[in-house]
Amino acid sequence: MPGERRKQQSAAQRCAGELHAGLSATGEARPAGDTADGVGRARHHETSFKPAPESMYIRSAVAAAALYGVYPLLVRHAVVVWGSEALDAVGFSFEQADSGHGLGHFTRDYAHAMRLIRGLNIPPQELLTGLLGGIFHDIGCAMVRRYDEPRRIARHAEAGAILLEELFQETSLGLSKVEQDLVAYGVAAHTHYLKSMDVVSAEGITRKLEPYVDTINDKPILAVWLPRWVDRLDVNGAGFVGRHYLTLVEQHEDFSGSEQRFYTVNFEDHLRPLLRTPEEIKAADGNRTMREHLALFASSQNNQSPYGKHDLDLMVVMRDKQTARLQRIIGSITPTDPLHPAVENEIVDLWTIFLACNVEPTRRGRETAETLAARFRELPEDTQHAWCKGFLATMQEYIGWAEETMSTLNKLSPAERRLGNIVEDITEIVAPNQLWATTISSMR
Ligand SMILES: [Fe+2]
Ligand SMILES: [Fe+2]
Repeated sequence: MPGERRKQQSAAQRCAGELHAGLSATGEARPAGDTADGVGRARHHETSFKPAPESMYIRSAVAAAALYGVYPLLVRHAVVVWGSEALDAVGFSFEQADSGHGLGHFTRDYAHAMRLIRGLNIPPQELLTGLLGGIFHDIGCAMVRRYDEPRRIARHAEAGAILLEELFQETSLGLSKVEQDLVAYGVAAHTHYLKSMDVVSAEGITRKLEPYVDTINDKPILAVWLPRWVDRLDVNGAGFVGRHYLTLVEQHEDFSGSEQRFYTVNFEDHLRPLLRTPEEIKAADGNRTMREHLALFASSQNNQSPYGKHDLDLMVVMRDKQTARLQRIIGSITPTDPLHPAVENEIVDLWTIFLACNVEPTRRGRETAETLAARFRELPEDTQHAWCKGFLATMQEYIGWAEETMSTLNKLSPAERRLGNIVEDITEIVAPNQLWATTISSMR
């Protein structure tokens, strides 16, 4: 019903607006500070950053962590201090990042890291550097346009590492120089290149991009692999479907890890509900559909793939649950047995709220979701039928993931659920917003 649709769209605006009001570091969009050397720098506020009195506290926390093995606490407090002061002080804003790599991804990365903390049997010092790198791995997306990357040698990962180095000059967070370097290196190396490749810059200069060193004597450098693990938990499951969909707002080139090349993505072609073999895709135009893109990611989430070969302990458990969710979603995206038109219409409205309130709860995320809703309704009928079923399955699977995740987050204190000035309470972003979840739950 058109009137009903209007009501629900305004609900999406209200939800995103309320969340936005509580997120002071995600305020007005600031210009991305790309510089001529190709690596963006965050714009500094007029008042320069002053080392916080909390740095004394952090140093004490490090000592306590070393003594009692309470690194989980240290990660939380380092993030709190970092988020509230250092990122804000250098003018960082998630509004500068694309909607697939903004506040929502950051929050889910933090939630994944908080879950992994207690389930990995690895030395606590490596947990500390690896999980900090995991939480901050994509902050460079606020400085480097993701879709300029095919023509850049210094990309969002390298920009994020440079930003971290700048932050470490302001405050050590109690980390030693070696730990700081490991965190920054892990962020730089989180994009997992399997082989070297030639990159032709916008000026026509060809440079060789080499994979990062990520093992020593065949043993994984965990400061590099943990950020990849944290990231992979959000390129899997229901959250990934939502954030990848948001990236379709502009035609772009996406990186194919398995083929080690970029391919073209546009909204209408990418949403065709096809699931072809790699040979069939190659024989066509070589461009994968979203369903095929999701299937490719799902197929690499195991210890036999170069991406998952070092996965262990709780990472394996969480990974497999996310993969099962993603596979169920992929299986649901078929044009046969379409839902009733009124139900489809409602699902598109609820999907828009889901994207705006949970997947990327920023002004930019909400505007992107609304733009895509209008474009979705122009797509061929078969595509709409298939994806309405996919949207429904995704939201239902998200509820399952959120229930699991909230059981960990609910054990955190209010201070631990607050990420400085960036997020008042991460549970508001992770918990399914009732504006869409109540109805979707009733559709089970
Ligand atoms: Fe990344
Ligand atoms: Fe990421």
